[in-house]
Amino acid sequence: GQDSPTLSVGAAESTMFAPVEHAERMLSLDNVFSPDELRDWCVKTQGSAGRPVRWLLELKIDGLAISLRYERGVLVSAATRGDGRVGEDVTVNAVRVAGIPTRLLGDGHPDVVEVRGEVYIPVAAFDDLNRLQARMRERVVDDMRARGVDDERAERSAARRFPAFANPRNAASGGLRQQLDKKGGLELQAGQARLDSLRLLVHGIGAWPDPPVDSQSEVYELLAAWGLPTSPYFRTSETVDGADGVLDYVAHYGEHRHDVEHEIDGVVVKVDELALHDELGATSRAPRWAIAYKYPPEQV
Ligand code: IVH
Repeated sequence: GQDSPTLSVGAAESTMFAPVEHAERMLSLDNVFSPDELRDWCVKTQGSAGRPVRWLLELKIDGLAISLRYERGVLVSAATRGDGRVGEDVTVNAVRVAGIPTRLLGDGHPDVVEVRGEVYIPVAAFDDLNRLQARMRERVVDDMRARGVDDERAERSAARRFPAFANPRNAASGGLRQQLDKKGGLELQAGQARLDSLRLLVHGIGAWPDPPVDSQSEVYELLAAWGLPTSPYFRTSETVDGADGVLDYVAHYGEHRHDVEHEIDGVVVKVDELALHDELGATSRAPRWAIAYKYPPEQV
C-alpha cells in the first residue's frame, strides 16, 4: 500500500543487511548556523572546560557515516550508523572500498577499536558515474528499439534500471548498500563502478578504553600511521576570533567549498584535548565537545 515501509526510500536496501551492534553508540552533532552562534558555543564550552581550550577544525564531509571495527589490527566488521546503537553490516562492500584497509599497518594495535569515518564519492567521480548511467540508458534504449519495443517504454525501462543519481551523498549511501551478488550484466558493471568511486575519510574513534595519546589531533596521526585515510584539511587553533581563529576557518571554507574534492555541508569544531571529552560528556544525541557549523544549502 501507499505507506508500506518497503516503498519508502532506502528501506528495500536496508533490510537486506544483518544488524550489528556498535560497541559504543554513534552519536550525532548539534548544529549552529551563524558565526555569532558558533562564537557563543565556543565561549560556553570554554567556560564549562574551566581551562584554555585548543580547537580542532575540520570540514564536515557530506557523506555517510561508517564504523569500522578492528580487532588486533584486523577489520572484522563495517557498519552503517543505523539508529546509532545498531547499524547494518556492510562489510562485504566495505572491503572493496579503496582506502578501507582490511589490515592496519604497524603493530601494537588495540584488542578492539571502532574507527569512525565518512564514506563519500568525490564530486568529479560523481559526474563520471552519472555519465556512465546515461550511457547505460542509451544502450538499453538502443537494444529495446532494435527488438521492436516502442520508444516510451524503452526509455522508462532504461530510467528504472539506470536512474540518474540526485547527489553524491545518495549515490554513496546506495553504493555501499548494494547487493552486487544479485546483479548481472550491465547492472553489475554499473554497480561495480559505483563501488569503485567510494572513498573514506576517518574522523574519530568509538570504543577505545585507553588511547595512548592525549588529543584528537594525535589520534589522527595514529590513525594515519595505521594506514587509515585522515583529512588533509584539519587544523588546530587557540583562538575563536582574530587571525587564524575558528571563525576565520569557517569563513575561509565558506568561500572555498568547491575547492575540496568532496562535498561539504559545514565545518566541525571539536575540543582537541581528549580528557575534556570525558569531562564535558554528551547528551543522548550529541557530544558537548563538538559542534557542526552548517553552511546555508546551495541553490542548484
Ligand atoms: S565527528 C560523536 N567529524 O556528520 C560524533 N562527524 O551530522 C562525532 N560528519 O555523525 C562526529 N564530517 O557522520 C565528525 N569531520 C567530521 C565529520 C562528521 C561528517 C558526519 C558524521 C556525524 C554527522 C553529524
